[in-house]
Amino acid sequence: MRIVTRGADLRALSRRARQSGMTVGFVPTMGYLHDGHLALIRRARSEHHRLAVSVFVNPLQFGPKEDFARYPRDEVRDVRLCRDAGCDWFFLPRVRSLYPPGFRTTVAPGPLADLWEGTARPGHFRGVTTVVLKLLNLVEPDTLYLGQKDIQQARIVQGMVRDLDLSTRVTVCPTVRERDGLALSSRNAYLSPAERARATGMIRAMREGRALVRSGTHDARAILSLVRQTLRREARPDAVDYLALVDPTTLEPINRLDRAGGFLIAAIRIGKTRLIDNLFLKPPVRRAGSQ
Ligand code: PAJ
Repeated sequence: MRIVTRGADLRALSRRARQSGMTVGFVPTMGYLHDGHLALIRRARSEHHRLAVSVFVNPLQFGPKEDFARYPRDEVRDVRLCRDAGCDWFFLPRVRSLYPPGFRTTVAPGPLADLWEGTARPGHFRGVTTVVLKLLNLVEPDTLYLGQKDIQQARIVQGMVRDLDLSTRVTVCPTVRERDGLALSSRNAYLSPAERARATGMIRAMREGRALVRSGTHDARAILSLVRQTLRREARPDAVDYLALVDPTTLEPINRLDRAGGFLIAAIRIGKTRLIDNLFLKPPVRRAGSQ
């Protein structure tokens, strides 16, 4: 595995590989890698000749009052995990090399960036689209791998790829969870043991919603009311930033689940930690003749 710090070097490596007929997979991350990241890395590894992983805590996607400075970092461990997972190019750029003095241009991500996470974190998705476009321009991968854990990010990046005619394909991988259901996240490191126990209430509440859908309820209000009640009881959140049932593509609220299904999305605060999660809900298929 090569550790690459200069964008020009990464581009040269990737171009050379592709010129000799190889395909390149790419997994962008902010490091402090966990099994969720590793699932993306393994999938990318299995589908391409060459694999690039980036670790870059992107200042542009953090608000002034957010956790950029204290975001967890462990580059030595990240290097080891990536080497063990068969990564070819480990890209570790410095902030001043991606954003040198005079850096001005950013990517405006469109109206979906103002919903949900965008309401709580203005400017966040502009930071995401900008850094992802920069990384794509350096790696020029065949496939970009993203996690369903951040479904809004995935939809916004898919929108950018489509709208700006980028040639990369986007693969969205399922959310990896702890045994008790908590979605893996670098930010889980902030939780005290008591807070962590409460955090699992978020997925338990969402799974209650899924059970209700399986028993035949399709009405968003009924689903959300059960999930909200369970969430309040089980997670005792200090705030619920949002809880919604949304269209699987546009992420706009829906009133009823139809055959296309929908995402139940939520963001809550527990103590000082903000957690997000989502679950895909799909009404059960009723076979002809069944009741
Ligand atoms: P980060 O939070 O490090 O996540 C990197 C990738 O891992 C994202 O695509 C995210 O959705 C995915 N991921 C995180 N937790 C996951 C889980 N439990 N299961 C499956 N996938 C998971 O998302 C970012 O970094 C940044 O915004 C980035 C795209 C790198 C741009 O800076």
